Amino acid sequence: MEYPIVQAPMFGVTTPEMVASAAESGALGSLSLGDLPAEKCVELIRATKTLTDKPFAVNIFLNPLPEQTEELKLKYSQAKEFLKTFSAKNQLDVDYPNYEDIKLTDYHDQIQAILAENCKIVSFTFGIPDAGSIDLFKKNGTVMIGTATSVEEAIILEKAGIDIVCVQGYEAGGHRGSFMDGKIPEIGGISLLSQIHDHANVPLIYAGGIYDAKTLLAAKLLGAQGFQIGSLLLGSAESALQEFEKDRLKNAFEKDIVLTKSFSGRYGRGLKNIFTDTLDDSGYILPYPYQNKITAPLRMVAKLQQNPEFLSIWVGQSKTSYSGASTGDIIMNLIEETENYRLNNEG
Ligand SMILES: Cc1cc2nc3c(=O)[nH]c(=O)nc-3n(C[C@H](O)[C@H](O)[C@H](O)COP(=O)(O)O)c2cc1C
Repeated sequence: MEYPIVQAPMFGVTTPEMVASAAESGALGSLSLGDLPAEKCVELIRATKTLTDKPFAVNIFLNPLPEQTEELKLKYSQAKEFLKTFSAKNQLDVDYPNYEDIKLTDYHDQIQAILAENCKIVSFTFGIPDAGSIDLFKKNGTVMIGTATSVEEAIILEKAGIDIVCVQGYEAGGHRGSFMDGKIPEIGGISLLSQIHDHANVPLIYAGGIYDAKTLLAAKLLGAQGFQIGSLLLGSAESALQEFEKDRLKNAFEKDIVLTKSFSGRYGRGLKNIFTDTLDDSGYILPYPYQNKITAPLRMVAKLQQNPEFLSIWVGQSKTSYSGASTGDIIMNLIEETENYRLNNEG
C-alpha cells in the first residue's frame, strides 16, 4: 500500500465503491462479507474487482455456531413472541422467520470462495480460522489479519500463525471482535495497543477512535504500523447508509453511543434507540447469529420507513462531522493533516 491506512470493513455500510475509492487513494480497502453465503461473497468480490485493479482485503465473521438444542429452539420461540408483541405495539408490520427457516453460513464455504477468487488479503473478526483454513491461506500466499480485543487474544492469533493483528480498542464502532469465552474484554485503546505491542511480535493495525492527525499519531506512538478507520467514513459518498441514518448520526449526542447486544446477540457499539432500550434488559436476546437473523426483518421494515428507532446504526466513541466527501478524499485529508501536524510539531 502507498499509505498505512485501512478502510475498516463495515458490514452493511461498506460497498464495492467504498473499497475501490480507498484502494485507489493508496490505502487498503476492506470488503466486508460478514456471514454472507459464498455466492454472494463472489458477487461482491467481482463487483469490487471491476472498480479497481489495486489489492484489497476481504473480511469475514468467524463466530462459532451455537449448538442446535431443544433449549435454543424454545428460547427462539419465546424471543419471537416477545418481538411480535414489541413490533405490534410500535405499529410495525414485521414477519419474523421461524427457527427452522434460519440459514446459517459455514465460514469454510466463504474461505473456499475467497481462495477461488484469489484474494490475497483476508481479515476476520469474532474468531480465528481452524488450522486447516490457516494452512490453506498460507499455501495460497494470503496475508491474514485477525482482530484482537485483549492481549490474550492477540497472543493466540500470533501463535496460530496469523500475520497481522488488528487491535480493536473499546472505543471502536460496530461489533466487538472478541472471541474468548466469558465476559467481553472492556480495554480502552491506549492500554490495549500499548500492551499488545509489549507482548506480541507481529505487525499491528490499530482500530478504534482514530478521526484525525493526533489520534492517528497517538496510535503510531503506541506501536501501530497500520491505522484502521471506520466511523470517519460512515457519512462518505460511498457509504451504504441512507441520508436519514447519516442525519441521525450527525444529531447524536455522546450519551447516545452505547454497547448493545440487542440487534445481533453480540456486543456492538452504536446508537441507542427504542429498540436497544427495550431489548437490552428484556432477557429475550438470542445468541449470535440467531438474534441477528431474527431481527433482520424488523431492521428492514425500519429502514423502509426511515425510522432510526428500530434499526442498528453502528458508530464508535469519536464523534466526527461524518463528512459526505468521497472515501478517497477523506483518507487523503487525514494523510495530509497528519503530515502537516508532524511537520509543525517536529519543528
Ligand atoms: C458500521 C460498522 C460496521 C462494522 N462492521 C465490521 C465488519 O463487518 N467486520 C469487522 O471486522 N469490523 C467491523 N466493524 C469494526 C471496524 O472494523 C473497526 O474496528 C472500527 O470501525 C474502528 O473504530 P472507529 O469506528 O472508531 O474508527 C464495523 C464498524 C462499524 C462502525
